[in-house]
Amino acid sequence: MSRARITISHGGIAAVWVALILSLALIGGCGGDGQGDGRGASPPQRPPSEATAGAAGAPAGLPPVGAVVAPPTQLGLGSPADPALIAAWDIDVGPEGKELPPGQGAVAEGQGLYPQCIACHGPNGEGGIGPQLVGPTPKTGFGDDFKDHPRTIGNWWAYPTTLFDYIRRAMPQHAPGSLTDAQTYALTAYLLHKNGLVDAAFVADAQSLPKVKMGNQVQFVPDDREGHGRVR
Ligand code: HEC
Repeated sequence: MSRARITISHGGIAAVWVALILSLALIGGCGGDGQGDGRGASPPQRPPSEATAGAAGAPAGLPPVGAVVAPPTQLGLGSPADPALIAAWDIDVGPEGKELPPGQGAVAEGQGLYPQCIACHGPNGEGGIGPQLVGPTPKTGFGDDFKDHPRTIGNWWAYPTTLFDYIRRAMPQHAPGSLTDAQTYALTAYLLHKNGLVDAAFVADAQSLPKVKMGNQVQFVPDDREGHGRVR
């Protein structure tokens, strides 16, 4: 390596230092007004000293001691909620099913997808390390025999629409969110069929699913309480 090249590289390092010191000085200069966007962190205000105290006893540039200071209108934290970002999270489907997405899925398609659920829910939805999904509709509520009568889609779930919602957001448990809307429709249709609630030709979509009558729907009362103390 020649002498000239060493000299150039020393010059380069010096330039980097100068740039670094300049940018640090700039950052320090920007963050001092306390009203920035929060990215240029301002140092904490020092306590007033005798030399800088103004007429009312406050340091120059600060409001008088005891003055009511309006809170900042912005804290400079976070970022605006982008509508596309909200849409990606806003996927809940309520009892009426108004939010059900386009797409459809048939019982037979659901049967083909169900093997990914077997490890936890059993080959016939009888349960395993996950809860039982398939079971008869009780003729009379649950009463005292609840322990011997596990809650299933057939005997407990009140709405076919919220079953779709639950599967889409939570299952399979090791990969929630991995099912497409069509796959979720198909699995919902299959599980409804296994519970005897729809026939084998059923195709679930935004129109057909809300119409399915669940076995235990009558046991649920809409909670329309508006305030306190109106427990039914
Ligand atoms: C890794 C294990 C696992 C797999 C795989 C799995 N589940 Fe589940 N599932 C669970 C567990 C555990 C729960 C109970 C979660 C809870 O109560 O918080 C559950 C709950 C459910 C429920 C609600 C049961 C109820 O009545 O409360 C449904 C419906 C369901 N799973 C459907 C599916 C479907 C459909 C698949 C396949 C796509 C699937 N699950 C795959 C473990 C699993």
